[in-house]
Amino acid sequence: PTETVYGLGANAFDSKAVASIFEAKKRPKFDPLIVHISNYQMLGMVAKGIPKEIEKLIQFFWPGPLTVVLPKKEEVPALTTAGLPTVAVRMPQHPVALRLISLSDTPIAAPSANPFGKLSPTRAEQVYKGLKDKIELILDGGPTPIGIESTIIKEEGGEIYLLRPGGIAVEDIEKVLGKKLKQREIPKIEAPGSFPSHYSPTTPLYILKGKEIPKGFSRKKIGILAFSSKPDYIKCDAFRILSPSGDLKEAAKNFFNFLYELDCLGLDAIFAEKVPQKGLGLAIMDRLKKASQNE
Ligand code: TXA
Ligand code: MG
Repeated sequence: PTETVYGLGANAFDSKAVASIFEAKKRPKFDPLIVHISNYQMLGMVAKGIPKEIEKLIQFFWPGPLTVVLPKKEEVPALTTAGLPTVAVRMPQHPVALRLISLSDTPIAAPSANPFGKLSPTRAEQVYKGLKDKIELILDGGPTPIGIESTIIKEEGGEIYLLRPGGIAVEDIEKVLGKKLKQREIPKIEAPGSFPSHYSPTTPLYILKGKEIPKGFSRKKIGILAFSSKPDYIKCDAFRILSPSGDLKEAAKNFFNFLYELDCLGLDAIFAEKVPQKGLGLAIMDRLKKASQNE
């Protein structure tokens, strides 16, 4: 368990161990991993040349759901970073993750602990369901408190780029930085989780445009992933409300878990309401767009 989602870990310096992550997840080898550390000495083992502004951000947000992409040390195997000259690093804020890393006495490479393309797990049972035949052990640390993956950033030419919205709001990073983050289209090889279909439930998922279910679904069993209130505008077979008070942090925490729950009900389709595109809402909408059939 990390504070964001469950990870599937291997010694970041051991190519054979790292290879088994790709194998268990059926993850394409060109998708690099995040390396998790428990202290600053480990940062020096995997990365070099840390820009001043990145230094400031990690001082402020670590341990926590902020991943920074940095020039890598030669010792980090190519498999861990998918051949890139950079390495993604973060210090998680979960007592079990931190203890595991420090007892292992090595940085741990870990993607989310789900089969490639599926929903990220926020509970040990979900890891078990997805990977039970492939892994030897699950550390059960209960539900993960943030519920959505880390925010990934990178410095380039004096600008800080947002590579993936996540558990730390862009606005909070900009406050500490004193300037705006840059957004850009990321080249595929570098694109964090930016494959056309990603984070997907097995049940077809659609983003609701307005408050109407498209024609053709009237006789189907449907579920609604609502934002803050009961979806009384529509007859549905099941619904979940991400946050009755409209709190985006609470919504992020519930997001993957509620999708999992709806996915287990044998529905014909899941419709998700849009959430406000601010704070952690940015990360939720990013995951929704990647998981849905209609965006
Ligand atoms: O919260 C999280 O970030 C979770 C927990 C387990 O820490 N991990 C996670 O890992 O979400 P994963 O593998 O599902 O997503 C990591 C993303 C990848 O999609 C990859 O593209 C990007 O990080 N990434 C890794 N190394 C990179 C690099 N050198 N440059 C750019 N992006 C990188
Ligand atoms: Mg993932």
